[in-house]
Amino acid sequence: MRRLYGRQARIYDPTRAAILFGHDALVADLALEPGARVLDIGCGTGRLLPALSRVVGRSGRVVGTDCVASMLERASHRTSALPNVELVLGDREFDWPDGPFDAITLAYVLTLVPDWHDAIEEAGSRLGVDGKIGVIDFSVRPIWPIRRLFEAHRIEFGEARRDHLRTRFATLTDIDARARTGLWNYFRFTGRNRT
Ligand SMILES: C[S@@+](CC[C@H](N)C(=O)[O-])C[C@H]1O[C@@H](n2cnc3c(N)ncnc32)[C@H](O)[C@@H]1O
Repeated sequence: MRRLYGRQARIYDPTRAAILFGHDALVADLALEPGARVLDIGCGTGRLLPALSRVVGRSGRVVGTDCVASMLERASHRTSALPNVELVLGDREFDWPDGPFDAITLAYVLTLVPDWHDAIEEAGSRLGVDGKIGVIDFSVRPIWPIRRLFEAHRIEFGEARRDHLRTRFATLTDIDARARTGLWNYFRFTGRNRT
């Protein structure tokens, strides 16, 4: 992971603009209140952070965490003018800031994590009572040769992650969308912590 994304940081934003969709819609789905505390796990170059910062406002707090320093450096440039955003580098697999958070986001992270089941549990354990989770990720396996491209980036498809989210959280939104290119699907899921 560190080697792959360590090398990708410089070209990440221009190359992913045509691949990763749904970020602004996920923030809208979460319907966060001003003052909320939000954790963005695997924040990468910070694609979600400005929108999260805007909705939680000055009284809120957004923490972005990632395990790749060069990705966080990009996030740091992107958020330098946003005083309610903090960035935290993790050095172990689930080395994420402690909660409780009002919301946790994982955008295009779970299909990269082999221990995704534990990742969902770890995220859930950092949510407060009534906290919300928001996930966007690839859903249906694309056709070859697009699939080869995804596999080269260690992306694993499958409905199991999404099914587990539906079981672990009380579903608020569960939406399938087609990538702009029409070549694959992604989903946006938001759910409330079950207490
Ligand atoms: C495909 S990128 C997505 C970045 C960002 N969320 C976005 O939507 O543009 C996946 C990111 O997750 C990070 N990541 C993967 N596993 C992680 C883990 N266990 N803890 C923290 N970050 C992780 C990677 O370093 C990478 O920056």
